[in-house]
Amino acid sequence: MSEINKSFNEVSLKRYKKLLVTTMVFTYLLIVVGGIVRVTGSGLGCPDWPTCYGKWIPPLRADAIIEYIHRLVATLTSPLILASAFIGWWKYRNIKLIKNTLIWAVFLLGLQGLLGGVVVLLETPPDLVAVHMGNALIILGLIILAGMAVDKLIANPQEQPKISFNTEFEKLALWSMIMIFVVLVTGAYTAGSGSTYACSGWPLCNGQLIPSHILGWIHMFHRLLVAITSIWVIRLYLQARKMGDLSKSLNTAILWFLIFFFSQAAVGGLKVSLQFPIWLMGTHVALAAAVWFTIVMIASRLGLKIEGEN
Ligand code: HEM
Repeated sequence: MSEINKSFNEVSLKRYKKLLVTTMVFTYLLIVVGGIVRVTGSGLGCPDWPTCYGKWIPPLRADAIIEYIHRLVATLTSPLILASAFIGWWKYRNIKLIKNTLIWAVFLLGLQGLLGGVVVLLETPPDLVAVHMGNALIILGLIILAGMAVDKLIANPQEQPKISFNTEFEKLALWSMIMIFVVLVTGAYTAGSGSTYACSGWPLCNGQLIPSHILGWIHMFHRLLVAITSIWVIRLYLQARKMGDLSKSLNTAILWFLIFFFSQAAVGGLKVSLQFPIWLMGTHVALAAAVWFTIVMIASRLGLKIEGEN
């Protein structure tokens, strides 16, 4: 058993956990608000920077307020990620899982900035929009994993946390997470490639099963993946019920994940049937990130072990 030759102070671990929770909430919000800026076309809501129309408080116009909130959240998120990683490296450097996870988050944060710049310069090519979304989701996932590892350390301050997926249920959670990731990235590709309006109506695309245009195919591919992923989500739920002895917090996380996932699928179907109202487009982005947040929590919770634990 590989023990940590130092026992960590519970109070400072709990404080660090609070910082990581704040960081994950801000990273989540940044993904959501970024999506809302895009679907509402508010990117130019404030023509100047850092003020908005020359003032520190934006005018009462939806696009200016949305863009200003986006700036605020963006300004706070990067320092939070950097501070989390710095403390992880400084105080918990012999906990490899925490230190390495957050170093990767910082590296990907740098990449995210570069990608964001290239996406704007090349006028939002769909593949880069999808990579940009995928990278943001991985950053959020890494911060959640680090937060869950700190939680494990609070319960077992002498043991090195590690990650492994051994049982059928744990592997099911891991695969559900991977499939959800692909669904989110194809959603971003659908949005970035301009395929959003290629299919209206649900479940068919403009009344046809086989779309007649490439953009329709891209749109329908996103829907098809959602249908396939639903099977994994239902299997995860059935397996959780069969096991029956899961902790209350894990059961709650699974319940929220199911609520988010199926509401998201309903919102997806509804927005294409109601001719894409903006509020449903915004809800689709917010729920997408919530689905990701909860499945990463579940997979991390199931995968995190201490040495010697199966
Ligand atoms: C639980 C399942 C689903 C997840 C996790 C998901 C995720 C996503 C994500 C992340 C985006 C990119 C949003 C953006 O960047 O603006 C997206 C876009 C989209 N999704 Fe889904 N989606 C799901 C289900 C569905 C369903 C069932 C439909 C249709 C029946 C659908 C239709 C669309 C469309 C049309 C877009 C492009 C919207 C835009 O331009 O903003 N989605 N989805």
